[in-house]
Amino acid sequence: MGLMNLNLRRCLKHLSDNVKHKGRFLGSVSSQKYQVELDRSLQVPEEYWGRISENIIWEKKWDKVMDNSNPPFVKWFPGGELSLCYNAVDRHVDEGFGDETAIIWDSAITDRKDKISYNRLKDEVSRVAGLLSRLGVGRGDRVLIYMPMVPEAMVAMLATIRLGAVHSVVFGGFAAKELSTRIKHAEPKVIISASCGIEPNRIVKYKPNVDEAIRLSGLEIKNLVFQRDECIADIGKNDIVWQDVVPGVPGVDCVPVGSMDPLYILYTSGTTGEPKGVQHPTGGHAVVNKWTMETIYGMQPGDTWFAASDLGWIVGHEYTCYSPLLNRTKTILYEGKPVATPDPGQFFRVIQEYQVNGMFTAPTAIRAIKKEDQNGEYAQKYDLSSLRYLFVAGEHCDYDTRLWAEKIFQVPVLDNWWQTETGHAMTSTCIGLGNSLNPPKDVSGMPVPGWDMRILKEDGTEAEANELGRIVAKLPMPPGCMSTLFRADQRFHDTYFKTFPGYYDTMDAGMKDENGYIKVMARDDDVINVAGHRLSTSALEEVILAHPGVGDAAVVGVKDTLKGQLPIGLIVPRLEYTGNLREELVVKVRNDLGAVAAFRIVIMVKGLPRTRSGKTARKTLSDLADGKKVKIPPTIEDPSVYGDIKLALQEHGYALNAPDPE
Ligand code: COA
Repeated sequence: MGLMNLNLRRCLKHLSDNVKHKGRFLGSVSSQKYQVELDRSLQVPEEYWGRISENIIWEKKWDKVMDNSNPPFVKWFPGGELSLCYNAVDRHVDEGFGDETAIIWDSAITDRKDKISYNRLKDEVSRVAGLLSRLGVGRGDRVLIYMPMVPEAMVAMLATIRLGAVHSVVFGGFAAKELSTRIKHAEPKVIISASCGIEPNRIVKYKPNVDEAIRLSGLEIKNLVFQRDECIADIGKNDIVWQDVVPGVPGVDCVPVGSMDPLYILYTSGTTGEPKGVQHPTGGHAVVNKWTMETIYGMQPGDTWFAASDLGWIVGHEYTCYSPLLNRTKTILYEGKPVATPDPGQFFRVIQEYQVNGMFTAPTAIRAIKKEDQNGEYAQKYDLSSLRYLFVAGEHCDYDTRLWAEKIFQVPVLDNWWQTETGHAMTSTCIGLGNSLNPPKDVSGMPVPGWDMRILKEDGTEAEANELGRIVAKLPMPPGCMSTLFRADQRFHDTYFKTFPGYYDTMDAGMKDENGYIKVMARDDDVINVAGHRLSTSALEEVILAHPGVGDAAVVGVKDTLKGQLPIGLIVPRLEYTGNLREELVVKVRNDLGAVAAFRIVIMVKGLPRTRSGKTARKTLSDLADGKKVKIPPTIEDPSVYGDIKLALQEHGYALNAPDPE
């Protein structure tokens, strides 16, 4: 208890020191510097980004900062040529920092550690690039990466872009079938994988998943396999073992590409139907992501940064791999969970051991630690004084979680909001521009320079301050955002720019207050957020509907104190089916989509609320499950189904205090 009080005092002191330090802005909501930068980025974007683009080494300087002649297909830095790999790796060697640590690998789950200098990183990346080149990979070709959190995964990403090729990293929690749809869509020349990933309760064999996915895709693809000691994979005729070949291959140089050439494709939201491959361009991405490290996150070259997200997600791409390396900020690659590998003290250990200055995680990870260590006893065992800020993203951070984290981590906890599509934060507290470190509760910060965020009502007019609406960004979007969807320009246009012409539709609902703070409320489309992972409910439905025992199905998200949301399957069974439908569906989702969907709640119902045009009124179902008041939309064909659904939900402990839908 005494310790706790001491910790609390330290925390308050630290917070007030931090606020005093930047304290010019306590009391005022945004700094003058921030306001000037935001205004200039919107009023004279070419001048603004042109100046910032000097932070990158260009092989050939751009002809123009922006070409916006064909919106929404804006071109940033057309005519420019660069290698992002050069800027993230070789540049630091050339500038005399070759011995400095680039990557710190900390595997809490295997109890292994490693520090990789820029010299060593350059050597390994250029050799793997040499091997990929021998396997026929060249500029514009795709390489699919399916690996756990080992340094070789980052080496694989960097080696791919070194050749001007394009990677698509697929998170290891996705199953073979989901992997195969992405293989079919991306048509990679080579797949890079590992023999296994390691989860607290089991070793996950990756290789059989890759073999099965390649078989399902019907393609013949070479697979470069990194063998891990924990599980040696069987090797087939199209496989190459990393350890056998890479050391003997001479390294190759960086291949510069055009600014708008793709850097990577990242598939979003569990896509069993037509995959949605978000494509990011190289030039804008290099410029903006390097800039964000100091401007948003307050990290300098030589600082140490810890983004605890898997490389398979956008946060892992941007803030475990590329942005810190571009900024010469040491990056920690952490393999393990926030809890249970082996205890809830691991994040704090990492902070102390490597003197971490800034950290980035998801609220769900904080809730997991809080659940197991409410009083922060593990945190107290470690010296956290090196830490300056904790950033959270991936889902909305509720105020209780933020307050608890501020008390335990002893630093400001700052929400920032962004999407796979945007590549960096749209709203945040911009440390480098002196925004207040004590934003109001429940907000996700203010627009980052480059983002003209508006709240629109259904009729397309602007909402008043504090009025709920759709959050959109006025075009052009800044550099560093997606340029299109892979092989789907029309879909890109129709998905994001059709509903509100002239704006990027974030598909999130929210509001802006009178000071310009943005509050993000809920997804307006079918995406749910499970443990910081975005999943598509229609993709889950598609898997479930393919089961012969299912007549109809709807998947909706229900609130969960740990993971934010969990999927619930509301199933109308076929009466003639005699199997154990509940269990079979859980196994089917695990096998087809992946364990990451955390799909376990299956509830049988007699019917579902459909509109006349056949759409399921999912929002009413998730509101009902969460115990909220539901107004039945007038277009629902058979409103009586709600009574039965409510009873079924209540039998499973949901919708407990929900009033009857009207
Ligand atoms: N490879 C294979 N399987 C994986 C995997 C991987 N890389 N990652 C997760 N899985 C599996 C897990 O083993 C688990 O399977 P199980 O049902 O057999 O237990 C399932 O997918 C769900 O995993 P996860 O979402 O990690 O849940 P969890 O209950 O194991 O852990 C948390 C809960 C909150 C600790 C964890 O979700 C977490 O750390 N979340 C933070 C996520 C994050 O940082 N997101 C990025 C946004 S910034």
